[in-house]
This record gives sequence, C-alpha cells and structure tokens, in this order.
Amino acid sequence: MKLWGGRFSKSTEKLVDEFNASIYFDKKLYSHDIRGSIAHTKMLGKCNIISEDESLTIIKGLKGILEDIEKGSIEFKVEYEDIHMNIEKILTDRIGDVGKKLHTARSRNDQVAVDMRLYLKEEILNICGLLKNLLVNLLEISKSNVDTIMPGYTHLQRAQPITLAYHLMAYFQMFKRDYLRLTDCLDRMDFLPLGAGALAGTTYDTDRAFIAEELGFKGICENSLDAISDRDFIIEFLSCSSTIMMHLSRFCEELIIWNSREFDFIEMDDSFSTGSSIMPQKKNPDVAELIRGKTGRIYGNLFNILTIMKSLPLAYNKDMQEDKPLLFDTVENIKPCLDIFSKMIATMKIKKINMKDATKTGFMNATDVADYLVKNGLPFRSAHEVVGKMVLYCLKNNKNIEDLTLEEFKSFSSFFKDDINRKVEIESCIESKVSQGSTSTNSVLLMIEKSKNFIQSLQ
Ligand code: ARG
Repeated sequence: MKLWGGRFSKSTEKLVDEFNASIYFDKKLYSHDIRGSIAHTKMLGKCNIISEDESLTIIKGLKGILEDIEKGSIEFKVEYEDIHMNIEKILTDRIGDVGKKLHTARSRNDQVAVDMRLYLKEEILNICGLLKNLLVNLLEISKSNVDTIMPGYTHLQRAQPITLAYHLMAYFQMFKRDYLRLTDCLDRMDFLPLGAGALAGTTYDTDRAFIAEELGFKGICENSLDAISDRDFIIEFLSCSSTIMMHLSRFCEELIIWNSREFDFIEMDDSFSTGSSIMPQKKNPDVAELIRGKTGRIYGNLFNILTIMKSLPLAYNKDMQEDKPLLFDTVENIKPCLDIFSKMIATMKIKKINMKDATKTGFMNATDVADYLVKNGLPFRSAHEVVGKMVLYCLKNNKNIEDLTLEEFKSFSSFFKDDINRKVEIESCIESKVSQGSTSTNSVLLMIEKSKNFIQSLQ
C-alpha cells in the first residue's frame, strides 16, 4: 500500500504511478534527504515529540540506509514515487513501526524544499571552486601577455590597439562578477524551509533554529507558506548560470575566430581539438563550440523554470516536481564547461607575432592621431575630420598612417609637429592611454595586482 493510501479504495493505475513518480531523477537527492531527516529526527527527540530512544533508532536506521545506497545495494521503487517516500518505506521495513514516526511534524513539501536547498548550496560551492580555477588561469595567462599587442575590435572591425592581457582581464571582471553573483545567490537561499509542514506550520512545538544549525543554514524561512512555495533560489541560480554560460560562450566565440586560419591568433592544443571523419587535414575547436552550444540548453532551463512557476497558486503544486531535471541538468553541464574551458585556455598556444602584425593594418592609430591634434589645439570634431581625410588618402595610396612622411602629415594640418611619427607607433598608442582602467601597461599591471588580491581573498 502507498504511504498515503489510507483514504483510497482503489490502487493507482500503473500508468499513473509511472507518470507521477520522480524517483528516476530525484534519487540524486538521497544524501541530502537523509541528512535532512537525521536533523529533523534529532529535533523531534530533543523537543520530546518522540522519545530519545526512538530518535536514536530512526537515526541509526537512516545511516544504515545511506551506507547501503552508497554501496549500491538498494533498489528504489517507482511504486513509492519519490526519494522521500522510498527512504521512509525502506526505513519502516527495516526498523518497524518506529520508522512511521519520522514524518511527524513535516511534510514532503518542506522536505523536498530543504533537500533542494542543501543540494544547491553544495553545488554552488563546487561551481565557485571551478570559477576560481578559471580566474587563476586567466590571471596567469594575462601575466605572461602584458606586452602582447593585438587589435581591439568593435563591430568585429579593427578599432584600437590593446594588449592580450587587457582583453583577458576583461573576462576576469566578468567571471569575478559571476562568482560574486553566485555567492550572493547562495547567501539568499541560506534559510531553512523544513518545519514549514505542508503549508501552515505544524501543531508541534518544534525547534527550527536547531535544525537550521544542524544543517548549516544561517536562519529559517520566516513564512511557512513562502518556504513551501518558493523556487526563487533555483531561478536565481539558473540566471547566474545563464550569465556564466553567456560569458563562456562569448569567450568561446572569440577563441573559435582567433583559432581560424583567417585570424591565426591562437592554436588550440591537440588535446583539446578534434578531427574530421572525412577531411584528413582538419583540426576543429569542437570543445569551444560545444560550450557555446550548451549555452542554449542552460538558457532553456531558465525559461523552463520561469514558465513552470508562472501562475502557480500558493503553496505546493505538483508542477514544481519538474524543477529537478532542469536544475540537475544545469549543474551537470555547467561544471564540465567551466572545468574544460579553464584547461583549454591554459594549453592553447598564443601566436604573439600574428596578433601584433594584425595591428599594422586597419588604421588602428587613427583615434590617437586625432587626440594628438586635439592636444595641439584643434577641436576634436575638426581633428576627426582631418584624420578621416588622411585615412582616405592612405587607402588611395595604399599606405598606413605611420608610413606617412612628416611633410605629408603637415599637408593635412598645421597642428602636426615634428614628434608625430613617434606618437603614431602602435606601442605608444597603447601606452598613451592614461585613463584609469585603460590598456596601458601600468594600468593592466594594476588590474592584475587587484585581481590577485581578489583571488587571495577567496577562501
Ligand atoms: N516528488 C515531489 C516533488 O519533487 C515531492 C513533494 C511532493 N509533495 C506533494 N504534496 N505531492 O515535488
């Protein structure tokens, strides 16, 4: 008979059992479920809701089940629907009627909510660890590329010269925010829903603060109706995950382009590339492409949960069972993405000469020439026009700005002085960016220093 079978005069259709069950996927929560049950049972004993002996017997039983699940000797049954009732049923089969006291002062609604929070808190820490590894690798690569000059782009058109370290440190900022967003999300979900009962609280004089402490929550959910109904923590996590994937995807896209013959800025290591079944010469950046592709799936998961939760009346509805596959899928995909991405960038070959060569065409110093004129007294808009004309002249005569003679410069404007040829060199264009947070070496070294301190501040 079902654990809830008392008021039923017929057994459920097998079809319904199979449809209704979540054990296929929520078995993943077994350890969190047992942890939650042990803390709950301790509280029941401590508050004299059950006897101390009963509490100890139940806890011993639960620990035995945990060991056996880990050994692989337990088979869950669809008939018992989910991980919560499977464990409760196994417990009662093993220790007898006292097992039936486990579910005193709780419901599956607060039980599943606590399981999910315990699971996610743990996984967020794992993901933060992977993000930290990525930050460390980014910092290392940046340190050895402070003087690697490359084109900076807007509209994927050569725009202004920058350094690779500067480019990578931009990603550092993005992943740093991702890290902080996750810790913030963790902080907000760190409240215990257990003890909320089905929705209204319970009639027992429980000690929820005790359970919170046992399970490592910093507090308890204040309103039990909210405790049961809330899946914001999953939505927030998925939103953080989507942003992480968006960042990874942008980065992957750049690496794929840089790895192409057309750009030839980097070469992915053989150990992070794949071949073609037909074209013998091919070496493809599949790993980066797959991470970019998986971004779609994580976004999908976010939309999935947002749509599930939309319009649900308070409190629990069975729709919410569907939160699990999408959450597990997100966690199981984002972790390898972060891990493999960090390792991939640590092994890629950076073709410094090609990067620098690419700054030689495309008039990347044009803005610097305009700024030069401004410093010598010409209003910016006029300087913009002068340099525009110079670019046109260079295009017609197949020259770069730095190839122009002093006479040619002076023919465009009397504001050009004898030092202009030196000022238009790509290196000086980079070093002349004196504003805070710019691409100049000093500024990037400062970023690197600050970033090192940030990493050290993480436990
Ligand atoms: N398997 C259910 C879920 O994952 C557990 C909660 C069931 N609660 C209920 N009132 N049917 O959502």
